Amino acid sequence: MIITTKITFFLILTVASTTVVHAQTPELEKRLSPRVTQEQVIHSSVRQVRKNGLRIFATPFTEADGLGSDSSGINGQSRPAIFGGFARVNGLDSQSCGECHTLQSADSIPNRFAIGGAGAQSNNLIASQTLSLDENFTGFYFNPIALFGIGGAQLVGFEMTAELQLLKATALTNPGTQVWLTAKGVDFGVLVCDSSGNCDFSGVEGVQDDLVVRPFGHRGSSPTFRQIATGAFVFHFGMEPVEIVEGAGLGPDPDGDGIENELLLGEISAMSIWAGALRPPVELRKNASARRGQQLFEDPSLGCAGCHIPQYVTNTPVLPFAFPEVPTDPSANVYKEINLRRFHYPRASSGIRVRVYSDFKTHDMGSDFSSIPVPFVTAKLWGVADTAPYLHDGRATTLGAAILEHGGEAYFSAAAYDRLSLEEKKDLIAFLKTLRNPRRPNRGLAPRSLAWSNEFVHSWSEDEDSEAYDD
Ligand code: HEC
Ligand code: HEC
Repeated sequence: MIITTKITFFLILTVASTTVVHAQTPELEKRLSPRVTQEQVIHSSVRQVRKNGLRIFATPFTEADGLGSDSSGINGQSRPAIFGGFARVNGLDSQSCGECHTLQSADSIPNRFAIGGAGAQSNNLIASQTLSLDENFTGFYFNPIALFGIGGAQLVGFEMTAELQLLKATALTNPGTQVWLTAKGVDFGVLVCDSSGNCDFSGVEGVQDDLVVRPFGHRGSSPTFRQIATGAFVFHFGMEPVEIVEGAGLGPDPDGDGIENELLLGEISAMSIWAGALRPPVELRKNASARRGQQLFEDPSLGCAGCHIPQYVTNTPVLPFAFPEVPTDPSANVYKEINLRRFHYPRASSGIRVRVYSDFKTHDMGSDFSSIPVPFVTAKLWGVADTAPYLHDGRATTLGAAILEHGGEAYFSAAAYDRLSLEEKKDLIAFLKTLRNPRRPNRGLAPRSLAWSNEFVHSWSEDEDSEAYDD
């Protein structure tokens, strides 16, 4: 007994003496360089900002940049360091955003890659609420979503939110009156408020009580790229964006790794603008089979288009970027705007056409659907031919399987699909296969201009023109 203890003690000592403390990782191996301030974002050209955004999204961060945290910091107790360092469950799970968002097409062989794409099964995010290795897994197992067209989706979401907020104001000024909540033709149920300003949300559907439309994340958790990005830095890399640190009240370096200002406001802004300007998915010319499939998709007996609403026309082509964001008022605190007509969105009356195939509402998809009882937002079907595996956890490797998994509110649709003839099923799939990711989403953001100066960071050069940037 005594001998074993002595041996163990000896081993620990030996191991400890061969490990150098992480906190001493030298400054010189920082990957995030040059830094980008909010002032620079405001005063630089949109193109320059997009280049920086792409670079930051693709940067593999190191401990010298602030990568890493355990149960300290703004993650609080949500990340017990069971394995130390990288651990897929609850992160740290990666070093760069691009690590999970790179599939331009999973449909082609070999796969095609482009920064901003979706992720394969092995890129799934794993978050456990209990994190006990002895119990059944309860938590999230989520497949990465492609970012193409995120600006158009965000603009539609903003316009819907603005309409819903106006309807709420109407309900407040007309106590006792039922006000129907429709935004861009989508029905969000009914709201009634009393004379003291209390509202009854029990008739509201598919949106949270704040009436903010949230197109992003499988659960419809965020109204903007910015909100997702800041959360992603904390979760995946244990890095602390300044804008989150400031609100946390834990001082300038909550995770105590000796690094402050891990991500500047300008850096999150640059990424937001790069993402907002990413080209939207495209639709291939449809043959006779795909045209029949499109009719089936729109037929009320199948009901697909009831949730996967094919298109929206926006009031304006201009997408605003704000900081700080006010979810109920997307027009507040705008620091920069881009015109989405310049980024391949088709012009339509005074705005643009956004063919996203979603109602941006959350739906009950049935009890088999997840280990946690949460509703899911209708998946955006644009680009769907290229974004396998399907559903929130990537459980479906084919479109047909994804449709048959629909339960709850969409059970009738799956059952109707199941009853179709083989020919009709083929037609429907042929239609879905025309919904493709953009071929060159980052065109014009040439690798050469991405070269950044840091003697230890490998710079892009002309002759290694990168396929990853698909340019
Ligand atoms: C380990 C893999 C992984 C990494 C790394 C990662 N993501 Fe994601 N991303 C995901 C998953 C999984 C989802 C779906 C999450 C959900 O539904 O809540 C997602 C969703 C998103 C979305 C929402 C897209 C939409 O249309 O709904 C955005 C935006 C996004 N990620 C941005 C980022 C940024 C910015 C970074 C880097 C700071 C990043 N991601 C790093 C896996 C990853
Ligand atoms: C009640 C609303 C509703 C109806 C009706 C509906 N869907 Fe869906 N659909 C959803 C939701 C919600 C998801 C996302 C589920 C998830 O995240 O796991 C989804 C996901 C999908 C996906 C997977 C997309 C991806 O990227 O993972 C496909 C494909 C799809 N639906 C096609 C269809 C077709 C075809 C029909 C008609 C036969 C249909 N859906 C009917 C709500 C609906």
